Amino acid sequence: MSLPETRIYPDADALAEGAADLVAQLLASAIAARGRASIALSGASTPQPTHRLLAARPLDWSVVDVFFGDERCVPPGDPASNYRMARESLLDHVPARVHRIEGELPAAEAATRYAAILAGALPLDVVMLGVGNDGHTASLFPHTTDLPAGAIVVATESPVPPHDRVTMTYEVIRGAGARVLLVCGSSKAARLAEVYGELMAGCPQLPIARVGPTIWMMDEAAASQLPRRTS
Ligand code: 6PG
Repeated sequence: MSLPETRIYPDADALAEGAADLVAQLLASAIAARGRASIALSGASTPQPTHRLLAARPLDWSVVDVFFGDERCVPPGDPASNYRMARESLLDHVPARVHRIEGELPAAEAATRYAAILAGALPLDVVMLGVGNDGHTASLFPHTTDLPAGAIVVATESPVPPHDRVTMTYEVIRGAGARVLLVCGSSKAARLAEVYGELMAGCPQLPIARVGPTIWMMDEAAASQLPRRTS
């Protein structure tokens, strides 16, 4: 089992700068190689500072396809919508091609419709990820089991509201060119150390341990309980 590359930053602002630099570099490399690039954004709160900085990076967004790793089943203008968060912090500011998960639909229908769009864009170049206090990532939770073989998008249930979710599967995340995990704050430190321990032992259990080789980008607080510190 390969251990993640860990990049640790003094604080949240430095983390956001570093993450914006890395994501812009990954997208620029894909554009240089193929004339276009694709990324799946993660949701909730951590990515917002990175999004705002990314919007100002010199990148030809007109050839970037933006997808979402997951979405809450709420309308696109709902405060809980990952699309709304991304729109406000990034997508309103760049001319990217945006492929929204239709959270206003029933989860199963939204998943089917999104899979039809996503299927034609795989493998993605970059997948951004977050991690919840329970070790979930995207909307793949510890209790999310029995995913249909070959499925690329599924409906899941979150233990915290909004309960109905739509998420990319492990297969899609693992198949991407690069995975970038952003973690900020001491509340995630213990869980991150647990996941790192799973990877060191070669027995990944928690969702964020099962997504394949990933670049872990953290602030000092989130990294404070890792077994060893890499620069
Ligand atoms: C979601 C996210 C989820 C998120 C983690 C971390 O829809 O909630 O995709 O996987 O990345 O829960 O959330 P925070 O960044 O708010 O800590």
